[in-house]
Amino acid sequence: MIKKCLFPAAGYGTRFLPATKATPKEMLPVLTKPLIQYGVEEAIEAGCNTMAIVTGRGKRAIEDHFDISYELEHQIKGTSKEHYLTEIRDVIEKCTFSYTRQTEMKGLGHAILTGETLIGNEPFAVILADDLCDNTSSGVLSQMVKLYEKYQCCIVAIEEVPKEETNKYGVISGREIEDGIFMIDNMVEKPEPQDAPSNLAIIGRYILTPDIFEIIKETKPGKGGEIQITDALLTQAKKGMVLGFKFKGIRFDCGSIDGFVKATNYFYEKSK
Ligand code: UTP
Repeated sequence: MIKKCLFPAAGYGTRFLPATKATPKEMLPVLTKPLIQYGVEEAIEAGCNTMAIVTGRGKRAIEDHFDISYELEHQIKGTSKEHYLTEIRDVIEKCTFSYTRQTEMKGLGHAILTGETLIGNEPFAVILADDLCDNTSSGVLSQMVKLYEKYQCCIVAIEEVPKEETNKYGVISGREIEDGIFMIDNMVEKPEPQDAPSNLAIIGRYILTPDIFEIIKETKPGKGGEIQITDALLTQAKKGMVLGFKFKGIRFDCGSIDGFVKATNYFYEKSK
């Protein structure tokens, strides 16, 4: 039912400068695969076949990555190195990619709104590729798609974080209606620990219904002067229903150096 997955990938990635000066943050590799490929694979596993990517200036490498490189194919065809391209070829065959550019980086809410032309009037998934998730059975997005089939409303993935770190996340509070599923009644973007409604933080996986676009259009810039998806979702929670879902699995914040190194070590151990 959820066929499209939106990847907001226009941010500057300043925490990784100078690496991200000419290379998109989403193309930084954990072992041999760029972050965004992990995200696309998670979306495919969840049943999506259309990847909608919001890029910005200096992000062309993402488009090239999800395309055939004829020269490279020609060079390694029939050699012992050919298998290195198997995984990415498989990804390219299984889905289509479309792109639009966010010309001014006005925040995640604004980036999602920029994707409206690619999504249209249907429910869709959102993956922030710098939140790298892994699970031994089904992926985080796959778990969320199943939940969407039951509740047919917006869903955000949540995780318990140490109280002193609430100022890095959107934080929710709500009533637990099923084990690990919260009907959200409040959401605050990057609250200081003393102002946080809980320690349940939103991570980079969402399922959104298309009415969110109209709500974002009416949402005024919030924290940091940016148009925040958290603020738009709070409006939606007040009008109807938004769920917070404690997913099964592990998440690495690969937008931070600490999280990136931990992810690299984790996937290296897993690959042995
Ligand atoms: P981040 O808060 O991690 O920002 O954005 P960033 O610019 O990528 O990184 P730093 O903080 O400067 O190091 C979360 C996600 O939202 C996207 C980013 O690409 C990232 O996937 N984003 C953010 C946009 O696409 N556009 C924006 O205007 C802001």
